[in-house]
This record gives sequence, C-alpha cells and structure tokens, in this order.
Amino acid sequence: MPAPQVAVIRGPAQQLSGRVRVPGDKSVSHRLAMLAALADGESEIEGFLEAADCLSTLACLSKLGVRARLEGGRLRVLGRGLRGLEEPGDVLDAGNSGTTMRLLAGILAGQPFFSVLTGDDSLRRRPMDRIVRPLGAMGAHIMGRAGDRFAPLAIRGGNLRATCYRSPVASAQVKSAVLLAGLYADGPTTVVEPAPSRDHTERLLRGLGVSVETWVDAEGGFAARVIPPAKLPPIRARVPGDFSSAAFWVAAAVIHPNAQVTIDGVGLNPTRTGFLDVLKMMGAEVGAEVTGEAAGEPVGIITARSSHLKPAEVGGRLIPRLIDELPLVALVACFADGITVIRDAAELRVKESDRLAGVAEGLSRLGVEVRELPDGLVITGPARLAAAELDARGDHRLAMAWAIAGLTAAGETRIVGAESVAVSYPAFWETLVQLAGPVARLVPA
Ligand code: S3P
Repeated sequence: MPAPQVAVIRGPAQQLSGRVRVPGDKSVSHRLAMLAALADGESEIEGFLEAADCLSTLACLSKLGVRARLEGGRLRVLGRGLRGLEEPGDVLDAGNSGTTMRLLAGILAGQPFFSVLTGDDSLRRRPMDRIVRPLGAMGAHIMGRAGDRFAPLAIRGGNLRATCYRSPVASAQVKSAVLLAGLYADGPTTVVEPAPSRDHTERLLRGLGVSVETWVDAEGGFAARVIPPAKLPPIRARVPGDFSSAAFWVAAAVIHPNAQVTIDGVGLNPTRTGFLDVLKMMGAEVGAEVTGEAAGEPVGIITARSSHLKPAEVGGRLIPRLIDELPLVALVACFADGITVIRDAAELRVKESDRLAGVAEGLSRLGVEVRELPDGLVITGPARLAAAELDARGDHRLAMAWAIAGLTAAGETRIVGAESVAVSYPAFWETLVQLAGPVARLVPA
C-alpha cells in the first residue's frame, strides 16, 4: 500500500459529464492469471487490472514458479500446467486481497506440497473457515489461527476427493475455491450456494473446454459441478471493464443535479449488475446496452444521468449480485424521497472493513439520518449532505464512495485512508477530475 493520503474534495462539483472507460475487472483478472498459470503454454491477457490486489496474485504465482510479464495492461504468463507449480520457498502474501487468498487456497489444496498464505491486517481478520472446511472435506490439510478461522493458513495439499459441498453463504470466493480444488479431485466436485453469486470462474473454465454444469437443486440451492480436466489450454483473452468501478460514476451521475455520464467497455455479467436493477427500481435514469463479449462475459455501454429517486427495499437474492455496490446503494438512498431499507447484507461486515459500520458512520457524519441493523441499514432521504471528515477505514470501496459523496456536499470533504483506492482502481482520481473538473486533490496524511 502507498504512503497514507488524505483526499480533499471541494464540493459541490458544478457538473459531472463525459465519456470514460474503467480499468479491467478485478475478479476476472485474478481468475485469468491463476488459470493461465495452470495452463500448458503461453497465455496472453489484455486489459489486466494493474492494481494492488491483482499484483498480489501475480506475486504469489511467481513464488509458485510461474513466470509472468505485465506491460501496459498486457499480461503474458508462461503456464506450468495443472501439475507443474513448485513448492514456494517462502510465505505467499495476498496483501489486502480476499480473492487471492481464497482462490489460491483452492488451487494449493490440490498441490502435493506445503505452502503458507498470509495477508495484511484486514485480510488476517477475515473469515477463512468458509474455505478451510470444504477444502478439508476434500482431503487437504489446512491449519489457521484461532481454530483454523483466520490466516496465516498452512496448507499441505494433494490427493483430493470429489465432494458435494453446501455452502451456508452465497460467495463466489468459496464457490471458486471449491471448483478450482475440483480440478484436482478424483471425480466431479459440486458446490451448492443459497443464492447465485458471480459466475466468472464457471464461464472461464467452460471457455477452456472444462465441463462445468450449473442447475437449481431440489432444495432450491444453486449448484455448480466441475469435472477434472486432463489439462488446460493457453488463454487469449481481453478483460472486460470492471462493473464495480463503473458503479461509482453511475452513482455519481444519478445523485448529482447536473450530470450525464457514459461508460464504455464495461462487463455486464448479470450476476454482477444488481446495482442497475436497484437504480431502475428507484426510478433512476440509467441504461445499459450489451455490445459484445470478452472473456466469456457480456460487455457494453452504461449511461446514467441526474435522476429523481424513489426509495427501495433491497435484500434477498439481489444482495450477492450487488455485494460490492452496497455502499453506493446506501449513498444513492440518501437522495431518494423516503426510507430505503437494506437487509440480508451481514456479509458486508466481513469485507475489507465492516462496511455496514463504516457506511453508517460516514453517512451520519455527512448529516444523513441512518440506522444500522445487524444485517443492513435504514436510510432516510432526501438529505442534503454536509461536507465532513470521513474515514475510509483502509477500505478502497469506502474511500471511493466518500469521494462521490463529496462531489455533492457543499464545502471540503476530507477522506482519510484515500491511498486504499490503489487496491482496485489506481486511476480513480484522474477519472474523477476528468468528469467533475479539478475538485479533488491528494495530500500526504
Ligand atoms: C469476489 C467475490 C465477492 C466480492 C469480492 C470479489 C470474487 O466476495 O465481494 O470483491 O472475485 O470472487 P465473496 O465471495 O466473499 O462474496
């Protein structure tokens, strides 16, 4: 992480307008790098996200003997084949990245060697028992702190048994860890989740010719099953723009009174675009059009402009489809005519920070009437935001949500922990200035 920074936003921005692109999808970048490492031969990936989280994945892969070169967003990976990874000589550091730790743990569970995964303070506080349990049931030996709940994780893998695992949480990271371990199992491996989570792993594996079936089972669970392949072919792919990065500009446009924004080349995978569904429920002027495909994902254009907003009830199966956008749902709700309720979102408490607590604290500092529930938030709109000093809690998505809030608040909003933006969207501040003018500056903390 770069040195601590404070972002200073001088609001309100007079207008917000323009046509932008967003960097490559974080989830897809991680997965492509890992699968390329396991493929036979040289893979070439365009538009790889050059941000701290995905660089953590590359650093871990390098310690496993994988040679990769990243130049101007083009990643070349010399695959080692499914069974060619080397025992790392040192601890693998996933930094701030949950996806790196959980998906790599799935792969490492299949390797006949010893490895240790660790991460930063935030990642070492996040639950890992959710992957230790299923990978253990497949036969991997994994130990972690506090009764195997937290990293560092020590893994001795190999000889995996096929299994059917019912996950109590809808989590793409859990599902992907099990499916990736399933590449090494002695038969078909199934994972069932209570609601559909993002399906990038399934799409990418299918694109490589691996058999991945999905269905809704007799108990209403969402199942995915992988049949272990003999090998993986090299990959040629372009990473779609990250919907979760685009979402900041969409939110900014609908809450700002003088805004019109277009975003090109964005991934529009329906398991990711729940935020657009909620915005439409709220009466927002947003549109999305699929124009092509990249890495097995629909890709297209999003348009958004100043909107008159109604409140909404957000919960249930929608939650995994907008999990990373919930801070933005809460922010948009501040501008709606009435009370918005977010429920079934307890997972937000175990993200890079406790995002329910962080959002509730930030919004109340901005002068919004907000109540925290064990699994959600109640927000009363419409509010007029007052500039404030806000804490990103080291969490990239909170830092960016507060920057968007600052665009509409009169006065100087200061965001402590602004450096965390480097985790997923290093060009964020540049794009903010492109759309809103010179309203933001970064100063050393
Ligand atoms: C991700 C899955 C989600 C999401 C995270 C990225 C992934 O986490 O919040 O930012 O790449 O699979 P969970 O699987 O924990 O819900």
